Amino acid sequence: MQQEKKVLFVCLGNICRSPMAEGIFKKKVEEAGLSNQFVIDSCGTTGQHSGELPDYRARKIAQKNQVQLDHVARKFTKKDFTDFDLIIAMDTQNLFEIQRIAQPGQLEKVKLMMEFSDQFPAQRNVYDPYYDSEEKFEEVFDLLNSCSSNLLQSLIQNNHESSI
Ligand code: 4NP
Repeated sequence: MQQEKKVLFVCLGNICRSPMAEGIFKKKVEEAGLSNQFVIDSCGTTGQHSGELPDYRARKIAQKNQVQLDHVARKFTKKDFTDFDLIIAMDTQNLFEIQRIAQPGQLEKVKLMMEFSDQFPAQRNVYDPYYDSEEKFEEVFDLLNSCSSNLLQSLIQNNHESSI
């Protein structure tokens, strides 16, 4: 990477989907030997779980897959628009909440995680597993894993193209 890339994953509570995405993406970046070129974080559009560790079901599936989840939940703030280059929302509700407080010109850096899915190109939302089963958490983990691989590939490719 020519420049450090700052990526922020956003969901509603910041205890299920976005911390899983953060942990998975961090592991992929580490495996690619690119850790020193990325800043990776996550947050929620609400602060109702601020200060909490990820949900125990997210931690369980992460541990099974050797993904570290040590994030402490926090709420999205306007400052995140300036602190991050890429803001990735888990679903359209999160996207709407982010769009609501964006200043003109800040929306270009906001994307949906499902834009990086090659399995479900028509789907816009990463399912919210909070009120669902442990099996759903596993499904969501697999989806985030696949989206994260494509996201990293896309960032590596874009960087390569912009340096030609
Ligand atoms: P997340 O899941 O947005 O993926 O962290 C949720 C966590 C908490 C709640 C809803 C969704 N809640 O209603 O408390």
